[in-house]
Amino acid sequence: MTLSSAPEAAAVQPALRGSVLVVTIDHAPVNALNAAVRRGLIDAIESADANAAVRAVLIVGAGRNFIAGADIREFGKPAVPPSLPDVCNRIEACGKPVVAAIHGAALGGGLEIALASHYRIAVEGAKLGLPEVQLGLLPGAGGTQRTARLIGAQAALSLMLSGRHVGPQEALRLGLVDRVGQSDDVFAEGLAYAHELIATHAAPRRTKNARGLADKEASAAAIAAARADTQKKSRGLLSPLKIVDCVEAALNLPFDEGLRFERERFLECRESPQRAGLVHAFFAERETQKSPETRGAQPRALDRIGVIGGGTMGAGIAVALLDAGLSVTMIERDDASLERGRAHVEKVYDGLIEKGRITQEIKARALQRFDGDTTYDALADADLVIEAVFEDMAVKKAVFAQLDRVCKPGAVLATNTSYLDIDEIAASISRPQDVLGLHFFSPANIMKLLEVVVPARVAADVVATGFELAKKLKKVAVRAGVCDGFIGNRMLAVYRTAADHLMEDGASPYQIDNAVRDFGFPMGPYQVVDLAGGDIGWAARKRRAATRDPKARYVHVSDALCERGWFGQKTGRGFYRYEGGARAGKPDAEVEAIIDAERERAGVTPRAFSDEQIVRRYMAAMINEGANIVHEGIAQRPLDVDATLMHGFGFPRYRGGPMHFADSVGLENVLTDIREFAKEDPLFWRASPLIVDLVARGKNFASLNQAD
Ligand code: 3HC
Ligand code: NAI
Repeated sequence: MTLSSAPEAAAVQPALRGSVLVVTIDHAPVNALNAAVRRGLIDAIESADANAAVRAVLIVGAGRNFIAGADIREFGKPAVPPSLPDVCNRIEACGKPVVAAIHGAALGGGLEIALASHYRIAVEGAKLGLPEVQLGLLPGAGGTQRTARLIGAQAALSLMLSGRHVGPQEALRLGLVDRVGQSDDVFAEGLAYAHELIATHAAPRRTKNARGLADKEASAAAIAAARADTQKKSRGLLSPLKIVDCVEAALNLPFDEGLRFERERFLECRESPQRAGLVHAFFAERETQKSPETRGAQPRALDRIGVIGGGTMGAGIAVALLDAGLSVTMIERDDASLERGRAHVEKVYDGLIEKGRITQEIKARALQRFDGDTTYDALADADLVIEAVFEDMAVKKAVFAQLDRVCKPGAVLATNTSYLDIDEIAASISRPQDVLGLHFFSPANIMKLLEVVVPARVAADVVATGFELAKKLKKVAVRAGVCDGFIGNRMLAVYRTAADHLMEDGASPYQIDNAVRDFGFPMGPYQVVDLAGGDIGWAARKRRAATRDPKARYVHVSDALCERGWFGQKTGRGFYRYEGGARAGKPDAEVEAIIDAERERAGVTPRAFSDEQIVRRYMAAMINEGANIVHEGIAQRPLDVDATLMHGFGFPRYRGGPMHFADSVGLENVLTDIREFAKEDPLFWRASPLIVDLVARGKNFASLNQAD
């Protein structure tokens, strides 16, 4: 049983049940610790201490969770007392035993409340963790000090540095909880525990006195190892090393001093732009799931799914679907292609087995839900079909004509096209209301982004089905309108062009990649080209050649490499050399010579750029196109652009996406940059009307995000 949540009730409701004061936290949706909850908790503990009839206290959460943590929406606003550390200290100081009974999430400040309680019980489905690191924070209400004392330095560091959630059994093994309930009735389990403690005259047992750090030598070694590892891995992030410092403080300082040390580090993190970026990312990921269609329409069924095409994307999509427990029928042109498609699927699983991520059994079980065919009739029962054949309008239309013929009424017909006009595809069949874009990113079983592309004539419940699919696949769905490249690829084309201009003007591709990596992307644009295959972009450029503005600047370097057959990693050469099949490329003097020749041909005298100048141009181009995309309604809000870039294109999460980044450096500064760059190339650098308008009104992109 879980307690029901009444929206109008007080955030914290104390009620005496015999000699136990049951303190129910009831603050929908997730019992986050806002000021009212914090105040209510202190008041409840005060009343427990003051009331002779109370012999124990039980803290439980109403609804589906214990407590999800500090109220993230309060960050960045003026602090309202009491502070969370004060609440935790007050609970720990209670003169009567306090039991925390945990169901659902006990995360961050939620777990800190439980750790400040004297006894802990968890029931099935509980998720305990200290995920602050994922928000650019550290546990700041005694979590670093109490967790280390309770479960030891190594286990505490592993929890806090990964931010992972643990279930009740693991929590018990670690010593985070004292027992796991026999049933999932958290209230009954907690109450029984509290009565048992009263019956056995158990005293308050304070975590600050726990002995998990008693072995000083082992603790110091664990801290040193974590510090070395974190220095290697934390790539520009502030909070992980501070977490290690706090655990060191727990080892070396008395509890109260350790708390002060932790609080100072916490406040540094809380005020950092990284925290702002990561919290923005957290809300953006949730906000993108809400589209006008998902609010009003029920998704259609999603049991049997067809995938057409077994190439790079078809196979990756099939694996993503199988991994979510869905059944997949793959359609290919002929037996040989189908065999290749199946082999592609198997290869993805074999790669995961090789890396130790999955077992043979998991692969075998997934493949039981996979079959293939070469005739479309096999799709007669499909609820959803995702087409991933060649990027060619005529081929796509022929496929959709077949789907129109065989699929049952109401089946959702989706295309994974990267650039083609989905309205045109939809208009070519008798049921345009069922046609949707589902744009996956490569590798489709790994990349988190799914653009749900909404053509003009699609039915709302078809769009809702796209979002429902994303949920099943655990992907971040972003609603996009129809245009060349939708949100992500359209932006990519523009910032890649800005990079090409920089390259021809004097920066080497290696310097550009380096500067972009230093900004926080895992790879630079030329490494990405080499990884994806230069031939893909080459084909797109050839397709667009006829419609390109003849006055627009065009850099020929990429074409020159492709003409030599240098398509990147798969051919051993691209912008980099990949010797002996190496995955990391080396700079190539011949490529630099080709660039020099192109500069000469274009009449460009090369000049030097600092890394900062490179990043400013790269970002300005990205932000400007993002603004155009919002302005045209292709993306609903700036946060949709942010989520797209973070989950599909490696934009560093701690910077919150390009639009949030623009706000953080000041939109007016971005506009000044664009106008400055426009002096050299007014055709490419045309300030987006949205930026001009926002700056004129003293507003920023966040003002267009309802969630912010
Ligand atoms: N503060 C404020 N709002 C929160 C919140 C929080 N800590 N956690 C979740 N929410 C909101 C979400 O934004 C969402 O709002 P919406 O309905 O308006 O979009 C709503 O609660 C439901 O959240 P989810 O959609 O994520 O619901 P799920 O059921 O899928 O997941 C959850 C629940 C596992 C609790 C997940 O929301 C979560 O992981 N929350 C964040 C947990 C966290 O990071 N806690 C640490 C906070 S920092 C801290 O505690 C600092 C301390 O050490 C001092
Ligand atoms: P691919 O060339 O690897 O695979 C295409 C497959 O479709 C081939 O196996 C081919 O045999 C099959 N096919 C062709 N015509 C068919 C037909 N009439 N019936 C059944 N099967 C047919 O191509 P890739 O890279 O998988 O791309 C597929 C689609 O996904 C394209 O629209 C592409 O733009 C899009 N896309 C590609 C991404 C990438 O990174 N490769 C990323 C996102 C989308």
